[in-house]
Amino acid sequence: MQVYMDNAATSQRKPETVLKAMEQFFKEINCNPGRGGYELSLEAGRRVIEARAALAGFFSAEDPGQVVFTPNITVALNIALKGLLTQGDHVLITGLEHNAVVRPLTALSKERGVTYTVLPADSRGIVDPQAVIEAVGPNTRMIVATHASNVCGTIVPLEEMGKLAKEYGLYFVIDSAQTAGCLPLDFEGLNASVLAFTGHKHLLGPMGIGGFCVKKEVAERMQPLYEGGTGSISDREEQPGFLPDKFESGTLNTLGIVGLGAAVEYLRSIGVDKVRAKEMELTGKLLNGLRELPGITIYGPQDPRLQTGTVALNMHGIDNAELCYVLDQKFGIMTRPGLHCAPLAHKTLGTFPEGVLRLSLGHFTTEEDIDYVLDCLRKVCQALTA
Ligand code: ALA
Repeated sequence: MQVYMDNAATSQRKPETVLKAMEQFFKEINCNPGRGGYELSLEAGRRVIEARAALAGFFSAEDPGQVVFTPNITVALNIALKGLLTQGDHVLITGLEHNAVVRPLTALSKERGVTYTVLPADSRGIVDPQAVIEAVGPNTRMIVATHASNVCGTIVPLEEMGKLAKEYGLYFVIDSAQTAGCLPLDFEGLNASVLAFTGHKHLLGPMGIGGFCVKKEVAERMQPLYEGGTGSISDREEQPGFLPDKFESGTLNTLGIVGLGAAVEYLRSIGVDKVRAKEMELTGKLLNGLRELPGITIYGPQDPRLQTGTVALNMHGIDNAELCYVLDQKFGIMTRPGLHCAPLAHKTLGTFPEGVLRLSLGHFTTEEDIDYVLDCLRKVCQALTA
């Protein structure tokens, strides 16, 4: 038996409609959108427009042009941070941020004297949005918040933070890597300046495609990270200033965009609320089962209402990397150990530098999968205490 428990890294299984849409595009179209005057290039362009519209609808962005495609969410976050922050700016971040946020900010601190404050969180990673009020200063320009931790699943109160960002006139940048597709996200309603997303996790698209939704007035002030061919106003040497071309230079990952568009249509046909309800039920089952096992420490909220289907743990008497290896080699259970590219989150949880074993559920996880994982973990616990 094989059980995939690494959905926080990527969703391994994809809906049939995604596979079909990609196969059809790759076999029958596969031309460069916006780069040819023939029917198949125009058709490729239409597929990109359709996917952009699907994503705009999915995130409640007013205009599909506000959806910009990038190779992944790390690029999207780099564009937002490096495109908006200038000399001496101050940024507020949560204690759950991934290196996709922390490393660009560290680079900006060297290049532009950007400083950042980590908003305090408790040992479950729960952030009090009121901390924004205490941390905001005269040079504060931006709040960057992950929607949920990639380590322990803790959900961040984006609504309250968005309100405070608006009140203090700050940019509000959301990293939805762990939640787009499994938690409702309303770009306009959250007062977000930039909502960065990845296609290959809970959105159920392929790897190599991500992007961001951006407010039009923010896009005007945001500098592109790179320039190049866009297939538009080619007589000019300057980068176009309009969306999405300002931030989309070079040939797009059209195959990835087609797959992501189909994935988003699939999720819209089910409804993210239903996806979330199932995930909460299975997360509750996993947490309840884990609590009954001896020698297991669970990190994070331990409450499906306050977290995603990502659960962090350590087992007494075995290193988490070794436990990952045993689960894979002996039982066919795929997990991720260590620091998950998020040392800051581990410091917040008190699990740095040893890390944790992460079990992360996804849309195709079943009750049987959870039973099997619990059964196997029980066997490992028993073997360790025998
Ligand atoms: N950031 C992804 C993870 O948490 C890859 O595993």
